[in-house]
Amino acid sequence: MIENTKLMIVEDDPGLRSQMKWALSDLDVHIAEDRESALAVLRKEDPNVVVLDLGLPPDPNGATEGLATLEAILSFKPQTKVIIASGNEERANAVKAVSLGAYDFYPKPVDIDVLKLIIERAMNLSALEEENRRLSDVHKSSPFSGVIGASPEMMQACLVIERVAPSEVSVLLTGESGTGKEVLARALHQASNRIDKPFVAINCAAIPENLLESELFGHEKGAFTGAVKQTIGKVEQADGGTLFLDEIGDMPLQLQAKLLRFLQDRVIERVGGRQQIKVNVRIVSATNQSLSDMIAAGTFREDLYYRLDEVGVHIPPLRERDGDSVLLAKFFLQHFARSLDRPVKGFTADALSAIAGHAWPGNVRELENKMKRAVVLADGKLVTAADLGLASVEDMPTFPTLKQAREKAEREIVARALELSDDNVSAAAKLLGVSRPTLYDLMKSYNMRD
Ligand SMILES: Nc1ncnc2c1ncn2[C@@H]1O[C@H](COP(=O)(O)OP(=O)(O)OP(=O)(O)O)[C@@H](O)[C@H]1O
Ligand SMILES: [Mg+2]
Repeated sequence: MIENTKLMIVEDDPGLRSQMKWALSDLDVHIAEDRESALAVLRKEDPNVVVLDLGLPPDPNGATEGLATLEAILSFKPQTKVIIASGNEERANAVKAVSLGAYDFYPKPVDIDVLKLIIERAMNLSALEEENRRLSDVHKSSPFSGVIGASPEMMQACLVIERVAPSEVSVLLTGESGTGKEVLARALHQASNRIDKPFVAINCAAIPENLLESELFGHEKGAFTGAVKQTIGKVEQADGGTLFLDEIGDMPLQLQAKLLRFLQDRVIERVGGRQQIKVNVRIVSATNQSLSDMIAAGTFREDLYYRLDEVGVHIPPLRERDGDSVLLAKFFLQHFARSLDRPVKGFTADALSAIAGHAWPGNVRELENKMKRAVVLADGKLVTAADLGLASVEDMPTFPTLKQAREKAEREIVARALELSDDNVSAAAKLLGVSRPTLYDLMKSYNMRD
């Protein structure tokens, strides 16, 4: 069970109250019986999750007092997750409660296992939101302020980066495209002792091979055709600071040798120059390629790899970061609503489940782009799954039934047997271990000739 989470049960029926308290005794449970006592407990204990009976005195058979209690709770502590308990005849009221901001509802009579699940889910969400609030407070001015994420996977990556930042070790960031390697490289620089010195990035994939050397190390005037003046390279520009070698897997072999020499001697020579210049840089590099595969294929130098990968940090793809896609979506919604001056405030439920369910092959970059588009497209206050260009969960292809799966397999194996036996039905029937008439029947039911 999750730590530091408190539950309040608001229930006027004493029997039910003690039954629930007992059944949920592995949680930190607090009890209230009406609006007044509920608000007192709220003030004193600050529960994250509340189970609220709608039928409270003085209106035990209606919902007015329950709904009023809900509103009081939410106006006092808006982050509280309130789960509504309601009898069947009160379903409309339960829906109303959700529209007022209740987290969920469940039907009475109480099925304690279902209720436990709903509570656990609410507590998880509450903990996640809490953590995010805490992070955004702590990180408001910290190096990681721009890095959104509360998943354990991302926290772990940030923790390693924070830890190695003050040292001089070379860090290699790996991860799929769009996972935030550059964002984290900048955060690392911000968290290092070189913060007052330059952060210089060079994208090895974006620069033509023949220009990359002079881009990195600079050149003297007249070093090659077009070198009309002396130019300082990125390595030299980064002196005292951090050099970010992005897409390092795209560096040509011949230049890998030169980079390795630099990392060993820490001196550079500009192209066409003879002078050796001492440079002090911290190296952070990044790639979305598998350098070990490249080493095996002979396209990346192993000795260079060990120099760059003194500490390796893997940035997990978004689909493996529990809860982060929704968190990032909320962040981008606020960000784009503000910067594009749009009145968008939140998401519809189908948008949230579509965001949580999408695999995000383009990772954070894809999410960022889709959110920008959605904020522009949304014609109300809420972004829908359609605005995001995502299939809403209800529209997704449904899981095949056992019958459908069986038929598909049967059809495929019949077709294969006929193919193997050159359409000879007797031979095919033998292969399949059925009689000829049975095979004919099958072929007929699947519309396969004859
Ligand atoms: N944790 C995050 N919080 C906020 N924004 C993020 C986060 N991760 C990534 N982004 C944003 O997503 C986009 C992609 O991030 P970034 O450029 O760092 O990815 P990358 O791993 O370097 O991708 P590529 O391999 O394609 O270069 C950027 O616009 C960045 O601002
Ligand atoms: Mg990048």
